[in-house]
Amino acid sequence: VKTVKQRVVLEILLDAGIRAFKCATVRELTAILEAGRSLGCEADLDVLLAYPLRGPALGVFIEAQDDSPARLRTLADDPAHLTTLLGWLPPAAVLLDIDVGMGRTGSAMAEWSAFAADRAEQVPFAELGGLHAYEGHVRDATDPALPAIYESLARFATAHLRHREQLVVTSGTPACLVAAADPHLAAGPFQHQVSPGTLVLSDLRSAPIARALGVRPAAFVASTVVHRGRGRCTLDAGSKALGADGPGPHAEPFPPLPIEIATPSEEHLPVRATGATEDAPLPAAGTLVLLVPSHVCTTVNLHDRAVWYAGGRIVGDGPIDARGHDLWRPSTSPSQ
Ligand SMILES: Cc1ncc(COP(=O)(O)O)c(C=O)c1O
Repeated sequence: VKTVKQRVVLEILLDAGIRAFKCATVRELTAILEAGRSLGCEADLDVLLAYPLRGPALGVFIEAQDDSPARLRTLADDPAHLTTLLGWLPPAAVLLDIDVGMGRTGSAMAEWSAFAADRAEQVPFAELGGLHAYEGHVRDATDPALPAIYESLARFATAHLRHREQLVVTSGTPACLVAAADPHLAAGPFQHQVSPGTLVLSDLRSAPIARALGVRPAAFVASTVVHRGRGRCTLDAGSKALGADGPGPHAEPFPPLPIEIATPSEEHLPVRATGATEDAPLPAAGTLVLLVPSHVCTTVNLHDRAVWYAGGRIVGDGPIDARGHDLWRPSTSPSQ
């Protein structure tokens, strides 16, 4: 959900029969539940809000858990957070977040094991919803670190989980095919799921895996040439229109043009003719240039609305429903 953030795309995924979703914010949770409700399949949804929820965001999740017929789960970041969550949620709604080396959220397996040994009576690991391990620090699918991560994760999961209702959720786009084929994760008593997001719309970063699966980029930034100089021009898609996190170039023209994209400023994207020859063919001022972003998730989040294009024509436009974040909402606010 974090990649598309639009009800209309979520409805396409639901129409295709997908019922398991992962999201990162309460707005995204609301968008997928509303999409399910409007298509009459909310009760079949299985949604993981994969974020260490605290304060008001946790309050919103608890309300949704009470109000929605969907199966909702979230992550426990560390033992203290797990204890807080279990005061509000059934154990089956909670997955242990395992830090497998990214150093972002979750706790190491050793820390969870020590807690399990200490508190076996009070904290029923065998009744939890499962485990979550996001190996987003490994961006190369051929990295030998991946099989080692999966093997130790599967060993930990087999020691603590008991049945197929319990999930082991790993992997964004770069590692998802390796994880999905991993024999250790396939062999446990639990159910292994991967959770690619970027791949749903695809972008420059995810191009190799998209090509391997035969999917094409589905989201473009429509920019206009606002300045034409000698051997260069400037598009109106700067870092306020094009996600500019990570290394550049932050976009590529579609279809390809003989140009190099330079570093964007806020409202401008300078472009040089390849080889910088002064008379190289460049689009004239006023030309529309479609760009495939290097990171589609942050790009989608920058826009209020999207234009939808299908079958060679524009078929409508609508809001990016779940972009941004809610302000603090006065609701139940557990302290952790
Ligand atoms: C916890 C988690 N799961 C899944 C994903 C999806 O990864 P990707 O965007 O590479 O598909 C992300 C991406 O940030 C993430 O943080």
